[in-house]
Amino acid sequence: MNDINKQNINKKNIDFFSKNSNYQDNINQIDTYKILYNEITKMVKDTNLLLDVGHGGSFDYDTTKVRKIVGLDLDEMIEKKAIPKNVKLEIGSALQIPKQLINFDIVLFVMLIHHLVGNNVNENLENLNKCIEESKKALSKNGNLIIVESCVPKWFYNIEKLVFKPTSYLINKFMKHPPAFQFTKEIISETLVKHGFKDIKLKNVRQGKFILQYGIKFPTVLTPVQTIIFSAKI
Ligand SMILES: C[S@@+](CC[C@H](N)C(=O)[O-])C[C@H]1O[C@@H](n2cnc3c(N)ncnc32)[C@H](O)[C@@H]1O
Repeated sequence: MNDINKQNINKKNIDFFSKNSNYQDNINQIDTYKILYNEITKMVKDTNLLLDVGHGGSFDYDTTKVRKIVGLDLDEMIEKKAIPKNVKLEIGSALQIPKQLINFDIVLFVMLIHHLVGNNVNENLENLNKCIEESKKALSKNGNLIIVESCVPKWFYNIEKLVFKPTSYLINKFMKHPPAFQFTKEIISETLVKHGFKDIKLKNVRQGKFILQYGIKFPTVLTPVQTIIFSAKI
């Protein structure tokens, strides 16, 4: 992907998510994200040092249960006064995690991976590999990567692959929300194995009546997505 396209995708993400109180309110109010809040909190509680990549200013877990959180995103994403006291913000990309961000007990990607799109499906897959490889550099010796992601079944993935180029072009042109690309849970698991992660566990999260699709509140029954929490040890 050339630099101009990369900048465009980054700019679309910043323009949509940065200080987007509507998105942040949706995360606080929609049932699926309330369920996720509890599930993620269970997994991160009592962590000493956590890196939340693509936090979007919404931190969908109880931040008071973690000692120190570093939030990395393409922009600060949240009003300074709304940042929890134990959170420090850094600006940068999941595809090139800043070198100083090391020794984290947990690296957390919540609803990030489907945003790491390139110009075509191969570039999307490259970005999936890249962010997982980058997480390894940020993790401590016994660190844990936690990925919370909306995954799609294989039949939907095959359609998504076919239509990705025209739909992402149209979304870029006509929608405020950035283009997205969802993987199957098998592809994410295989990528973790390929990058040497061990003890990989998957949990299907119960979804509520509503879910966000392209930033729009949608009845869950009308979408094929399944929210999965992956955890993997370095
Ligand atoms: C759907 S939001 C998720 C926000 C939050 N984690 C949550 O679950 O509510 C996706 C976030 O990923 C961020 N993002 C997109 N591309 C990124 C990249 N290359 N590096 C870091 N963050 C990125 C966006 O800016 C946005 O804040």
